[in-house]
Amino acid sequence: MKAWWKDRVAYQIYPRSFQDSNNDGMGDIPGIISRLDEIGDLGVGIIWLSPVYKSPDADNGYDISDYREINPKFGTMADMERLFAEAAKRDIRIIMDLVINHTSDEHEWFRKSRDRASPYRDYYIWRPPRNGKGPGRRLPPNNWTGFFMGDVWEYDEQSGEFYLHLFDRKQPDLNYKNPRVVEEVKEILRFWLDKGAAGFRCDVINILYKTSLADGKRALAVRGIEHYKSQEGNHAVLRELRRDVLDKYDCFTVGETVMVDLDEAKLLCDESRGELDMLFYFDHLEVDRRIAQYVPKKFRAKRLLKVMTKWQRGLDWNALYLENHDQARIVSHFGAAGNPAGGPGKHWRQSAKMLALFELTLRGTPFIFQGQEIGMTNFDFESLDDIDDVLSHGLNGLMKKLRIPGFLRWKWLKASSRDNARTPVQWDASENAGFSGARPWLGVNGNYRHINYAAQKDDPDSVLNFYKNIISLRKSTECLVHGEFAPLYADNRVMIYRRELGDESYTVALNFSFRDVKLPKRAAGFLGGAVVVSTSGRRETEGRLPPWEGVLLKGG
Ligand code: GLC
Repeated sequence: MKAWWKDRVAYQIYPRSFQDSNNDGMGDIPGIISRLDEIGDLGVGIIWLSPVYKSPDADNGYDISDYREINPKFGTMADMERLFAEAAKRDIRIIMDLVINHTSDEHEWFRKSRDRASPYRDYYIWRPPRNGKGPGRRLPPNNWTGFFMGDVWEYDEQSGEFYLHLFDRKQPDLNYKNPRVVEEVKEILRFWLDKGAAGFRCDVINILYKTSLADGKRALAVRGIEHYKSQEGNHAVLRELRRDVLDKYDCFTVGETVMVDLDEAKLLCDESRGELDMLFYFDHLEVDRRIAQYVPKKFRAKRLLKVMTKWQRGLDWNALYLENHDQARIVSHFGAAGNPAGGPGKHWRQSAKMLALFELTLRGTPFIFQGQEIGMTNFDFESLDDIDDVLSHGLNGLMKKLRIPGFLRWKWLKASSRDNARTPVQWDASENAGFSGARPWLGVNGNYRHINYAAQKDDPDSVLNFYKNIISLRKSTECLVHGEFAPLYADNRVMIYRRELGDESYTVALNFSFRDVKLPKRAAGFLGGAVVVSTSGRRETEGRLPPWEGVLLKGG
């Protein structure tokens, strides 16, 4: 079945870094409204809005203290309503971030749940200490470890028990064995859908249901995950939310999943099961990483094509992305950004375009992260003090414990820190990159004078205009949206694949290297079609791909 969200391109906004309207150094909703024309101009039809709810910001809004209130830093509910209305005028629909694995410890439910006798006690997961009472003998209820590299149990003096938090201690996990929690979530969904939301991006959505609290198997990180990842109880919760609420609205959901494999993913988004419409996985961004996203290893295009093929062919519909607020900038990760401190490298532009062509010629709904469309790069941090992200600090602490030397810790943090993506959007070459009149909450990348929206807007050769053109081409080419995906060739540097729909086909060839690659005969044979787009502006491929080039050919 075709749905409106399949034919649109989505754009993720991380509000605190998008556009500041009141010069307090923090992006806000009126700032977003003031930039809707730019977003519309890009050809985007969906916005995913990272959390704007009331929050003490222990994890930048992913710790919600009131799901029905707007964080005053970002504006008011009236601003939010205006955002829905203004976006609708431009035919842009907004999906909200749904963070329901945990709340903030400042949420009213949690505050009440500290009282053992309260009906809210069972909204969270409270357990007594393991080794009886008495000072020094208060052991946590199990041996699990968390996503932010620290403890997952926090002792509460007031009630004499520990509560579970898989993320920060300020993010207590909700108890999905309690049907009242599910009812509360339904009300939250209705609240936002009635306001005009077109759906939800569902945060860490496959770890809601903790089947058991038994000790976990030995593991370097997230010990205990086998007791809560993709459990049957989790599927049941998703089906219930869908059946009782989501199916009654014209909306869609995209789930962010934790460590799913293809089989689990199929269960989560197989249309007939009625759970999610699509999901974000991480495999493709980890082809050059060890231990999730943290430790870099050599990139090989062959590995990337293998992973893409698995997911493109394995799922009926994919959520496509190369960046988000938790990942490095793609042009620094898979591309050729150059040294962020010294302005863009020689192949920065070419590689940013090649990566755009990659994302926008896959089957699924593409999500572009703010700043990706102008080729923003990783941040030029100089020390840990420049980093705000709670996970980066947790990771540094863990690596220290493991006695990893300082230079390696820094190297790995620079490659993986979530703050790479969170620096303010570079709108122009004025102070603070046109993001704010005040010092921004997180440093602006020093390369903003070279890389910014204003400089690219009227340049036909810019990364921005390349994104615009490819989005527009995609929207008018059914085969690029709905066609089947077929891998054709890959080696360490190059990959070639095809999209096919009926009699129509398009071939995509991408060079992920600094080499001018002369393709072997077998591979060159796939490039017989007419060149529709070439990132270097060539009309013929002649069996070779210049450094970082991407080409799209019709037929072949
Ligand atoms: C998701 C969010 C991330 C957040 C975490 C906990 O992974 O994308 O930013 O820290 O969930 O809510």
